[in-house]
Amino acid sequence: MAPRNTTVNISLMGLGTVGGGVAAALMGNADAIKRKTGRTVRLKQALVRDVSRPRDPSLPAGLLTTNPEDILSDPDVDIVVEMMGGDSPAGSYLERAIAAGKHVVTANKEVMSRRGPSLLALAQEKRVNLLFEASAGGGIPIVGCLMSQLLANDIRSIRSIINGTTNYILTRMARQQTPFADALAEAQARGYAESDPTNDIEGIDAAYKLSVLGSLAFHRPIPHDSIYTEGISRLAPEDFRYAAELGYAIKSLAIAVAEDDGAVRARVHPALVPEDHLLAKVDGVYNAVEVTGDLCGQIILHGQGAGREATTSAVMGDVLNIVRGLANSEGPPPLPDTPSVASNGGPLAPVHPIDELSSAYYMRLTCADQAGVLAQIAQILGDGNISIATVIQKDTDPGSGTAQLVITTYPSREADVQTALRAVGELSVVVSVNNLIRIEE
Ligand SMILES: NC(=O)c1ccc[n+]([C@@H]2O[C@H](COP(=O)([O-])OP(=O)(O)OC[C@H]3O[C@@H](n4cnc5c(N)ncnc54)[C@H](OP(=O)(O)O)[C@@H]3O)[C@@H](O)[C@H]2O)c1
Repeated sequence: MAPRNTTVNISLMGLGTVGGGVAAALMGNADAIKRKTGRTVRLKQALVRDVSRPRDPSLPAGLLTTNPEDILSDPDVDIVVEMMGGDSPAGSYLERAIAAGKHVVTANKEVMSRRGPSLLALAQEKRVNLLFEASAGGGIPIVGCLMSQLLANDIRSIRSIINGTTNYILTRMARQQTPFADALAEAQARGYAESDPTNDIEGIDAAYKLSVLGSLAFHRPIPHDSIYTEGISRLAPEDFRYAAELGYAIKSLAIAVAEDDGAVRARVHPALVPEDHLLAKVDGVYNAVEVTGDLCGQIILHGQGAGREATTSAVMGDVLNIVRGLANSEGPPPLPDTPSVASNGGPLAPVHPIDELSSAYYMRLTCADQAGVLAQIAQILGDGNISIATVIQKDTDPGSGTAQLVITTYPSREADVQTALRAVGELSVVVSVNNLIRIEE
């Protein structure tokens, strides 16, 4: 490890969108970094798959490598910054770097969601830092807030928009009445969605990030696969139109709530959000995270959840904090305030199944346009303890003799709603149950 007042050697794993931004910041801002941290930093090496690829910035000859050992087995490397993505091999590289006594910064939500507790425990044992601000919320400094500035709070809930790709698609569908498939194609053409968009549109990416944020907020690991996830592909332009008529926007929310019984409720799904709520106004690729704590009340952080510059801000913030720690302490650098989840992995948070959720609902059905239909549906809902709040009948189609029926309910139990809706779908007067969306008041 570099002694005080000597150059801090930093090696990068990954030199793509984020890695390129971090390399540019390390090489271009050396004077500012020295001023802010008291230490000189040097970009020692960068791991890539293909050294022949053109790069921005282009690195001096000899700095690129395809061999991870050049970094992991180099005793002169003080900080490893991982920006490769995916669990394998990035997760095992991080483990080895920490085991070798190197400080680590990562932007990798999947690794932090799957292996965060064990990596953090190893980092504590080895007295090194593992920082991961960019793993959730991109340029929004939410991880650091939860880890230190909000630590005094008993956090009650997190409600967030943490996937820019889905938020871009939903914004297009709401504003231009664009069908889902067209909005997705447009997001891909603009580089906001990958060629395989599954992780984004099915809520998997948001579940990884919610797992990271929820674990920090509630001080117990919340495995990503215990989080209920529902994608956005069932949404249709008319859902946005009817929602607007009712005074709501539709957003894909990632929500984690601490329940009074000590369990957590964690879910990612589309939701109707009152149009005057700040989360309803988060558009395009922007992200926002609302945190409610006993002391701080409600806080909303809003900003760019992805992109080279915004993510570089988060990664470099972590790097500079470590460099500053190296400059200021005589012995090993001070560890940041790591919540209990970090120390030993702790017991997993019990997560309530979605069946037990109590929520208001929006449902859209295509029904026969004839008298008595609503009475039959209302009977089934009533039998299931579900009270109707509003009904609108729209878009009558004389050709097929059908109409769209949009019903909202008062808060009801999810399992009751699902059961009732199955029975409604079997009525001869109901052509199809098109959508069921939770209403987040
Ligand atoms: N992009 C964003 O806006 C954003 C925002 C927040 C967090 N993140 C996170 O940041 C990380 C990086 O994202 P990115 O968008 O920068 O990805 P990217 O553009 O695809 O870059 C990935 C880099 O990692 C290298 N790489 C991948 N697998 C490798 C392997 N097995 N061995 C060696 N090198 C390997 C690639 O090498 P080649 O260049 O040779 O292919 C490339 O340089 C991910 O964890 C992502 O979730 C990204």
